[in-house]
Amino acid sequence: MSCSGCNRPGAPGVHMAAASSHLLAVVALFGFFLIFLAVGSRAEAVTAEQLSSPPSSSPQLTTDLTTRGAGTARRRRPSVERELDAARAAIRRAARRGHADHGGGNASSDWFHGGDSSAEHARLARVYRNPAAFHRSYVEMERRFKVHVYAEGEPPILHAGPCKNIYTIEGRFIEQLELMSPGGAGVRTWDPERAHAFFLPFSVSQMVQFAYVPLSYDRAPLRALVADYVRVVAARHRFWNRSSGADHFMLSCHDWGPEASRGDPELYGNGIRALCNANTSEGFRPGKDVSIPEINLYDGDTPRQLLLPAPGLSERPYLAFFAGGRHGHVRDLLLREWKGRDPDNFPVYEYDLPTTTNTTGGGDKQHDYYSYMQRARFCLCPSGHEVASPRVVEAIHAGCVPVLVSDGYAPPFADVLRWEGFSVSVPVADIPRLREVLESIPAAEVERLRDGGRLVKQHFTLRQPPERLDMFHMILHSVWLRRLNFRLNDHLSS
Ligand SMILES: *[C@@H]1O[C@H](CO)[C@@H](O)[C@H](O)[C@H]1NC(C)=O
Ligand SMILES: *[C@@H]1O[C@H](CO)[C@@H](O)[C@H](O)[C@H]1NC(C)=O
Ligand SMILES: *[C@@H]1O[C@H](CO)[C@@H](O)[C@H](O)[C@H]1NC(C)=O
Ligand SMILES: *[C@@H]1O[C@H](CO)[C@@H](O)[C@H](O)[C@H]1NC(C)=O
Repeated sequence: MSCSGCNRPGAPGVHMAAASSHLLAVVALFGFFLIFLAVGSRAEAVTAEQLSSPPSSSPQLTTDLTTRGAGTARRRRPSVERELDAARAAIRRAARRGHADHGGGNASSDWFHGGDSSAEHARLARVYRNPAAFHRSYVEMERRFKVHVYAEGEPPILHAGPCKNIYTIEGRFIEQLELMSPGGAGVRTWDPERAHAFFLPFSVSQMVQFAYVPLSYDRAPLRALVADYVRVVAARHRFWNRSSGADHFMLSCHDWGPEASRGDPELYGNGIRALCNANTSEGFRPGKDVSIPEINLYDGDTPRQLLLPAPGLSERPYLAFFAGGRHGHVRDLLLREWKGRDPDNFPVYEYDLPTTTNTTGGGDKQHDYYSYMQRARFCLCPSGHEVASPRVVEAIHAGCVPVLVSDGYAPPFADVLRWEGFSVSVPVADIPRLREVLESIPAAEVERLRDGGRLVKQHFTLRQPPERLDMFHMILHSVWLRRLNFRLNDHLSS
């Protein structure tokens, strides 16, 4: 079933002492987590020095968090920090060993046991930066990670989001988290004292629908709504001030998600912002923020056509395919260079996608569109009005190698995934050379990239209810990694 978030029961209230003391804490940074998940398959080469060096992807994070004002320190380190310490240690051990850890119970070796044989390990190492570290981190997340969802606020802007079309993930993520019941095994906790992270359940898409004056281009109401919400939760609960927002996260797929997050400087500067529009030229910081996939579910479900087995290379006459509107400068360049130039080999269409000859399969536009994807070896995924493209997810499902044509895009899950193992990246400046670049990739490599796509497909699939390693859980895992990256350092005065 598709998302039903618009009419489900309200979230239960929060039970807590609003009057608890002002326990500000220094935040110390443990910047190695992102970096050692990025050290690659040669994990045995990881040294302690490497592990303790700050992540190159997020130099700002160290500065911001460690220079933040100190407050009253606490006597006792809370257990959530001890849990995170244990998780860090376990992940570090796994990363050093470089192979799956089957000790300590059945863990999740079912999805990872393939890493035992060297051929399978090589296959995993092509798409995961460090398969063992990812495996251990994921299992630690399943065992320990707890997220508290603030109960304040009402639909339609809070606790609800779109369930269809391009911003689906906003509604689905909120719903999947909020549908978890108390006492269940899920990641959600009703006890904020147990939480490692706090979720701000607003939807920027809903804000745009209900608070934005069409065609005004005035984003001030969006910023004001975000500012108000943070003010409310910071006033009522002690957790925001404790970390200045660093252990809080928001999620938005709307183009204006980043702009809305500017409404609160602490959210923008310290908070974990999970965004589709992950443009590093507009303040997205890969070490602190989370890039999430854009997925376009026209009717709320993954299109059935994309769930069919993907045709092999021999059934793919086209080198590459694109169809779409002239949205933004990247698309404009692409269409000016390639539209209509080489339709038999390199079909690029604006709004004029011809219908496929076989109309028994539907003959509708969407069907035709996916048919092209299923008959191309590469699918072009240029940025539009913002950096992300829903074509990436569609291409992976269609067995077509995604070609990211963008500048400043931080692709999703890149802390654990090696994008070069299942996609091709082409800078905007190379658009004139696109055909040449793609033609130069040998068939064997295209097969390897397609195989990589098969391995990662599960991470780009929305399930209902959520399943292990699906998109919902990969987003949570991204938040988990960023939370591991720092400690609320409240034991200084002990
Ligand atoms: C494996 O783990 C699952 C979930 O953690 C648990 O329910 C199951 O009993 C375990 N199986 C064995 C054989 O230990
Ligand atoms: C958190 O800080 C804000 C701004 O200084 C303040 O207004 C608010 O009352 C504080 N919250 C709590 C729970 O003390
Ligand atoms: C036409 O499409 C239908 C449904 O997708 C399919 O079963 C059939 O094999 C196709 N025919 C040809 C000639 O491709
Ligand atoms: C990314 O941000 C830069 C700086 O604001 C902007 O010039 C560029 O157009 C953005 N990219 C996209 C695809 O929107």
